Amino acid sequence: MSPWWQSFFDHDYLSIWDQVFPAETNQTQAGALWSMLGLQPGCCLLDAPCGWGRLSLPLARLGAVVLGVDQSETMIATADQRRGDLPPDRLRYLRHDLRQPLLESGFDVALNVFTSFGYGTEDEDLAIFRTLHDAVRPGGRVLVETNHRDLMCAFIARGSKFSLRLPDGTLFLDEAQFDSLSGVSRLNWYWHGPRGSGEKHADWRCYTPTQILTLLQRAGLQFQSAFSGFSNAPFKAEGPEAGGRLAVVAIRPE
Ligand SMILES: C[S@@+](CC[C@H](N)C(=O)[O-])C[C@H]1O[C@@H](n2cnc3c(N)ncnc32)[C@H](O)[C@@H]1O
Repeated sequence: MSPWWQSFFDHDYLSIWDQVFPAETNQTQAGALWSMLGLQPGCCLLDAPCGWGRLSLPLARLGAVVLGVDQSETMIATADQRRGDLPPDRLRYLRHDLRQPLLESGFDVALNVFTSFGYGTEDEDLAIFRTLHDAVRPGGRVLVETNHRDLMCAFIARGSKFSLRLPDGTLFLDEAQFDSLSGVSRLNWYWHGPRGSGEKHADWRCYTPTQILTLLQRAGLQFQSAFSGFSNAPFKAEGPEAGGRLAVVAIRPE
């Protein structure tokens, strides 16, 4: 049987998350990445996975030369349709399974943003991080931005449920169930609104920040810094969100 994530990232997924991340939010996040990483026009970026190119596009507009990679046909086709007037020497997209090495390398930075690993086994996550390691040049960096177990446990401890009213009026709800022994969270998404109703289910392996750093190290990367989400603020496990989302920067040794 094919793993869930090979069919999960489809038009239904897009119609929800495209509303959560409108162009202005994506521009703001791209700007934050630019500043966190001290990027310069002409730098070579790998956005992997890139989804529908929500960050690849504004990063290319800021002056980076971007390759966006994703396994989903829908995501890559949508990203390509939305590329606007950016020529292929500034922005390209490739459909590829990141568990396998890329044929291209020498990137200055590789991005893995919005909780884009933890979909299969730990060995598969390691394979994805190795692909990112091999794709950046010696001295190049890998940024991983993600939800994590401390944040999720803080959320559970507050008795919170994740729900959203989307701009088109759709009500979106996630009734997740976390198995703290396996470390896997079962995501149960339900939505109802003017475009229709539906549900989706997924199993997400939820690592602690420590485990994420260990995986990066096992992939040959050295920890450099950690930020609280898309910000220049250092990551600290404090407050009701246990530090919030984690953005780790790791470097491929020279
Ligand atoms: C949560 S989305 C995030 C996408 C993008 N980084 C963003 O910020 O919108 C996760 C993406 O990972 C892609 N993905 C999952 N496993 C993959 C794999 N093994 N190889 C390539 N892409 C993968 C999915 O197709 C999906 O588009």
